[in-house]
Amino acid sequence: MNVQKLTIQKAKNYDHALYELLLLADPSKEIVDEYLERGECYTAWADDELAGVYVLLKTRPQTVEIVNIAVKESLQKKGFGKQLVQDAIEKAKELGANTIEIGTGNSSIHQLSLYQKCGFRLQAIDHDFFVRHYDEDIFENGIQCRDMVRLYLDL
Ligand code: COA
Repeated sequence: MNVQKLTIQKAKNYDHALYELLLLADPSKEIVDEYLERGECYTAWADDELAGVYVLLKTRPQTVEIVNIAVKESLQKKGFGKQLVQDAIEKAKELGANTIEIGTGNSSIHQLSLYQKCGFRLQAIDHDFFVRHYDEDIFENGIQCRDMVRLYLDL
């Protein structure tokens, strides 16, 4: 597949379009705002169109985490998500990190596939994370999203 190369840069405007993307990955604006305050937000552009976003957070010494990643719905399944993850891996290396981590729901089948295709390995399960932290029950792919699957990649 011929994949268009995205232009990825630090976010400049925290506008409605950017929030729409961030909220695709996490329905809680409160949590998204906390990530934006603590982390670095990168936006990805396909020509002049905002195509994707990710937020990278330093969590522990030499460890960073992708805490939010999303591709605009109309542009999904074109390889942009993979480009975002690969860019985050490069940024983590530039920051001198030894490990990059990401967490996703037990029901997020495509995300689990994407992250493992990018080299991430399974690390741990935070049982009932989504039950504890979200008011509404979340369902995806006919599965209740209860547990946070933690993945890591040694750099
Ligand atoms: N169906 C099947 N496979 C899918 C898929 C889908 N809907 N979405 C992603 N994948 C898998 C495929 O295995 C694909 O591998 P391939 O290139 O070998 O076919 C791989 O992921 C990469 O797909 P890609 O096109 O790069 O992903 P994307 O641009 O669709 O972005 C997300 C993936 C997860 C960022 C995007 O679906 C999204 O924004 N989802 C909503 C927000 C979200 O869930 N964020 C993550 C929270 S943990």
